[in-house]
Amino acid sequence: MRMVDLIQKKRDGAELSTEEIKFIIQGYTNDEIPDYQMSAFCMAVFFKGMTDKECADLTMAMVESGDQIDLSAIEGIKVDKHSTGGVGDTTTLVLGPLVAALGVPVAKMSGRGLGHTGGTIDKLESVPGFHVEIENEQFVQLVNQKKLAVIGQSGNLTPADKRLYSLRDVTATVNSIPLIASSIMSKKIAAGADAIVLDVKTGAGAFMKSLEGSMSLAKAMVKIGNQVGRRTMAVISDMSQPLGYAIGNALEVKEAIDTLRGEGPEDLTELCLTLGSYMVFLGGKADSLEEAKEKLNEVLKTGKAIDTFKTFLLAQGGDPSVVDDPSKLPQASFVFELEAKEDGYVEELVADSIGTAAMWLGAGRATKESEIDLAVGLVLRKKIGDSVKKGESLVTIYSNFENVENVKAKLYDSIRIAQTEVAKPKLIYGEVKE
Ligand code: URA
Ligand code: CA
Repeated sequence: MRMVDLIQKKRDGAELSTEEIKFIIQGYTNDEIPDYQMSAFCMAVFFKGMTDKECADLTMAMVESGDQIDLSAIEGIKVDKHSTGGVGDTTTLVLGPLVAALGVPVAKMSGRGLGHTGGTIDKLESVPGFHVEIENEQFVQLVNQKKLAVIGQSGNLTPADKRLYSLRDVTATVNSIPLIASSIMSKKIAAGADAIVLDVKTGAGAFMKSLEGSMSLAKAMVKIGNQVGRRTMAVISDMSQPLGYAIGNALEVKEAIDTLRGEGPEDLTELCLTLGSYMVFLGGKADSLEEAKEKLNEVLKTGKAIDTFKTFLLAQGGDPSVVDDPSKLPQASFVFELEAKEDGYVEELVADSIGTAAMWLGAGRATKESEIDLAVGLVLRKKIGDSVKKGESLVTIYSNFENVENVKAKLYDSIRIAQTEVAKPKLIYGEVKE
């Protein structure tokens, strides 16, 4: 086989065989195929697309390019959730305890990474004592006993995807549905998931801005999962504004605690109940999505969800008393209010740039070397559609810097106030079940 022939085949719109796709991915991972040929191949895919079978083959070739996590020692159906990324997305912190309370095993492998706020691990580390440095054996044992554990990412998962993603980044080929879908799915499958629930974000703050694009991506990923024997379902949810109110590490832990008590923001609660019902259904703990949702509402009401969170924190060294006394979480030295300059209705809250403001405070990492400040961040006081009076707070700023003028300016730039009433945006735009 010669790479040049396979590039030509794709360029001319023909379907590649399983063996041909394996040849490409193995060759690229082993340095036998150079970047320039792989770039040309990605561009051909960008223009010609891939069939469902090619997408599934590409996904599995990338899964097989590195280590695969074996979760078979954990009892039950391991359901993983993936979000295509947003601002202040506290769903993972809530969903873990929420579905674990119903006996769905959650074996969460998480990273730190770059972004507006830290990753799930950073957020959880704002609980005094909590740590993810546990042995694999203990991880398995904890999931079997407590139904929930979190461990740092280890092993060399999907090296082909890492290289390919960097290459796509500099060759204008990131934005191809088959390439995005196989990239995301390969990572979930390599991490050992039996079933996968996808939260595909749509809107200004999302990776996929258009509803049409988000829907296509969701369908492509669900098809891949189901073809390779991992039951997969997707929800398309709004990211035209940040989810919930809190954007910051300790602040999001506090928000997760409120939500697990049944006292969280409406949008965050609703999205968690929807995603959670898919997880419980796929995890075999309910016969329908409706029954799953009822059961989840029940564990919120009875306190079983918040108790599961406490047990989980304690098992990994964390101080569970933060749940009843959130003032034990890291606290910022300074608190400022961003006051509305006029009366009106909130029309726009640009998620991306609000996230950037949180990062400037130190809530997230701009580069791998950046230090993260767990105490700082933002809490929105108004969401799209809310009415506001001049002088009322739009956002509370939690900072360890005494001067936050740059952050305030960025926030004023990110918030638009209209003079006439504004409708609240829809939260869930679509669901893909098969
Ligand atoms: N996220 C990924 O993990 N991969 C892509 O290709 C795009 C977004
Ligand atoms: Ca939030």
